[in-house]
Amino acid sequence: MADYMLEIKNLTRRFKIGGMILGKSILAVDDVSISLPKDKTWIMSVVGESGSGKTTLARMILKLLEPSSGKIFIDGIPLSYYSKKDHRKEFYKKVQPIFQNPFSTFSMRKTVDTYLYETALNLDIARTRDEATEHIRDILHSVGLEFEQVTGKYPNQFSGGELQRISIARALITKPALIIADEPVAMIDASLRMNIVNLFKKLRNEFNVNFVYVTHDLSTAYYVSDFIATMYRGNLIEFGPAKELLSRPSHPYTELLLDSIPKVGVKWDREIILPDIETKEYSAKGCKFAARCQYAKDVCHKNSPPVTTLEEGHKILCFKYCGYKI
Ligand SMILES: Nc1ncnc2c1ncn2[C@@H]1O[C@H](COP(=O)(O)OP(=O)(O)OP(=O)(O)O)[C@@H](O)[C@H]1O
Ligand SMILES: [Mg+2]
Repeated sequence: MADYMLEIKNLTRRFKIGGMILGKSILAVDDVSISLPKDKTWIMSVVGESGSGKTTLARMILKLLEPSSGKIFIDGIPLSYYSKKDHRKEFYKKVQPIFQNPFSTFSMRKTVDTYLYETALNLDIARTRDEATEHIRDILHSVGLEFEQVTGKYPNQFSGGELQRISIARALITKPALIIADEPVAMIDASLRMNIVNLFKKLRNEFNVNFVYVTHDLSTAYYVSDFIATMYRGNLIEFGPAKELLSRPSHPYTELLLDSIPKVGVKWDREIILPDIETKEYSAKGCKFAARCQYAKDVCHKNSPPVTTLEEGHKILCFKYCGYKI
């Protein structure tokens, strides 16, 4: 039996940017390793400002993007196993996505229940339409909707929040082991975000499903998470149990983030990150955060920081804890 529900090992994804001749490449995800133990079900938030590699990481877990190197295992099985055509269904049963914009998840020309039936029937969750109806009814109820409210209606007849609940119901139909939700509340009215995030907590217990919750929204991330992964320019700069990270934020960047938490709903501002700064930071030697770090010393600009483990499972990528007084 595998020890980990999700195991990400030295995962890297390189993208070419710019033209053929003067083009460069960036490591959108750079040597990321994360393990989620299997003894319980978890919600892991992936936080970090725009362009830090969160979506690239999420897309690799969903097999929508191939890694440049490194491996991902789910329940001990490498994702490459599911590349074979015969194993695809098995993958979709195990891992399901929820995307940012529920209005683009569903075609405006199809009733939303079409998607629910297609998932149930195509992935062999139900043998007949009647059996599918019963299953869909139960799952809609679990996400706070009733079958009669949903069936026969088109996406534009729902609010963003309702539609996102239907996306969640669709993802749950296969009773997956893992749901990857990339910015699932970003398009939803701020006042309703917490309801959706609370729903993740309820569903984690009810369906024994693990969540990877990718978000800009720090307040919901810190509220909902069992584990937090903080990314910065492709690097996983801090990872650990949420409680430990909150009580002892150790990377200077996490410290900075936590300072902004009391303002509920706070987000990073895309404007402050100019594209050339982003590229410069991506290609910086040494620690990618050094240029913005109040503690940075020479070593930080010259060498890549090592991974240091503080407590069980709490890892940071910083020189601060390996003998350098910074
Ligand atoms: N297909 C691609 N081709 C080239 N570069 C890409 C591609 N996809 C992402 N990138 C670059 O990789 C970096 C990480 O992007 P990614 O979308 O993973 O960040 P993110 O953390 O999800 O950002 P956001 O919070 O804005 O969604 C960025 O610099 C982005 O421009
Ligand atoms: Mg993204």
